Amino acid sequence: MKFDVTAGDITVRDTDAIVVNLFEGVTDPGGATGAVDRALDGAISGLVAAGEIKGKRGEVTIIHTLGKIAPSRVVVVGLGKSSVFDAEVVRSVSGETARRLQKIGVSRFSTIAHGAGIGGMDAAQSAQAIVEGTVLGLYEFDRFKSSKNNEKSVETVEIVEYDASKLAALQMGVDRGLVIADAVTICRNMVNEPGNRMTPSRMAERALKAADDSGLEIDVLDTPDLEALGMGAFLGVAQGSKEPPKLIVMKYDGDPENPENNLAIVGKGITFDSGGISIKPSANMGDMKGDMAGGAAVISAMKVIGQVGPKINVTGIVAATENMPGGGAQRPGDIVRTMSGKTIEIDNTDAEGRLVLADAVHYAHSQGIRRIVDIATLTGAMSIALGHICSGLFGSDQAFIDQVKESGDMAGERLWQLPTYNEYKEQYRSDVADIKNTGGRPAGSITGALIIGEFAGDAAWAHVDIAGTSFSRKTSGYTVKGGTGVMVRTLVKLAETLAGE
Ligand code: BES
Ligand code: MN
Ligand code: ZN
Repeated sequence: MKFDVTAGDITVRDTDAIVVNLFEGVTDPGGATGAVDRALDGAISGLVAAGEIKGKRGEVTIIHTLGKIAPSRVVVVGLGKSSVFDAEVVRSVSGETARRLQKIGVSRFSTIAHGAGIGGMDAAQSAQAIVEGTVLGLYEFDRFKSSKNNEKSVETVEIVEYDASKLAALQMGVDRGLVIADAVTICRNMVNEPGNRMTPSRMAERALKAADDSGLEIDVLDTPDLEALGMGAFLGVAQGSKEPPKLIVMKYDGDPENPENNLAIVGKGITFDSGGISIKPSANMGDMKGDMAGGAAVISAMKVIGQVGPKINVTGIVAATENMPGGGAQRPGDIVRTMSGKTIEIDNTDAEGRLVLADAVHYAHSQGIRRIVDIATLTGAMSIALGHICSGLFGSDQAFIDQVKESGDMAGERLWQLPTYNEYKEQYRSDVADIKNTGGRPAGSITGALIIGEFAGDAAWAHVDIAGTSFSRKTSGYTVKGGTGVMVRTLVKLAETLAGE
């Protein structure tokens, strides 16, 4: 798919469709929508008066122009209430519009930069959101389908702006949008690929490719390396599987003169979570192919960070393994020694994310990293608490937690902080080891988070639980059924925020 930026009058474009917009409650359209309305002798305002167009967020109305103007169709997309308008609305309506147009066989269309006129939005931001929404809204995971859904697909999207002085900003937004959308696509692909395809070794290959594409250093640690480091918790999870575990370490040196100006982004990379000996029920177990979504977000975000170049040193770490109940699998009751020296009693082998992250987060700390954020599909309890609307946010350092939260807000990915009171820690006390790996049902997401936090040492630490947000059961806006690619955008923004950009 190609995106062009052009100066001129959208009503005269020679294209399959032109896209204009309307805020809810507006009866007399202005700007480009007003110009198109006049060119169509009041067709849009007529439909508004008749109540057929309301401007509700995501409402898509297609009007055939029957030769009145050069473009054969006009699409009026609803932007919702102007008081709650933001880039997320643009992303979402762009996804909705693109899917509708692709469905009716449109291969090229022109759009105005939603919000950049009357909406008061920055032109670059609008263009970026259009590109992200369009590319991600049209995303399909069809590599294993012999016949594809869409014979005709959208090939060219043109953003048309009347005011030529905005072109440079629009182009900048398009370029950034393409980089981000490409990375989110890579992330979604990894999440959607089944466990037999997306093994730990394959994840490492994808990371090697990403590192190669954006000039990052990369190291993939194998079983002997993990043994030498004493990563007993990570290895304990891996021992039930035939697939060898991989600790993927990607490095971006954006501020080599200040090695302390650093950040680690650490991802849970369970390529399939059967639960191990504490085996999961079979209903929906297949969804656990996506238990590496945190790791996929880390690899994809590292790729973007290498491309956009913020002034900060970022290390991406992914603990990739399967959690399987093979003959060599660890047992409930086993005790493992982590790299940090702390011992963990395995109460439930299905609480494996915190085990692999215990070693991965400690590894980050052992590398002298001062700020660590981990991303994980950690607990089913997360979607009980927050549903699928926002990810859970936890941590030890409020200033850092706030920075993660703000980065999410800016990127259009919502995070909601949960408490981490010390009293919760009693729930995972063990009689025979330093701690056990579960804290019981009450506040399951919080105890899971706190167990990981035990291994962050004195680094500022934050944890994002994406169990409810990494996978979607429905298609809407720029979200498509399956992997969402959540947190790629937030992690990139976080690196930039910490770099002061
Ligand atoms: N990967 C799961 C969490 C999960 C569940 C993610 C559903 C996405 C959708 C995790 O490894 C797990 O099994 N957690 C257990 C923890 C419990 C045993 C303490 C859970 O949530 O039941
Ligand atoms: Mn599990
Ligand atoms: Zn898991």
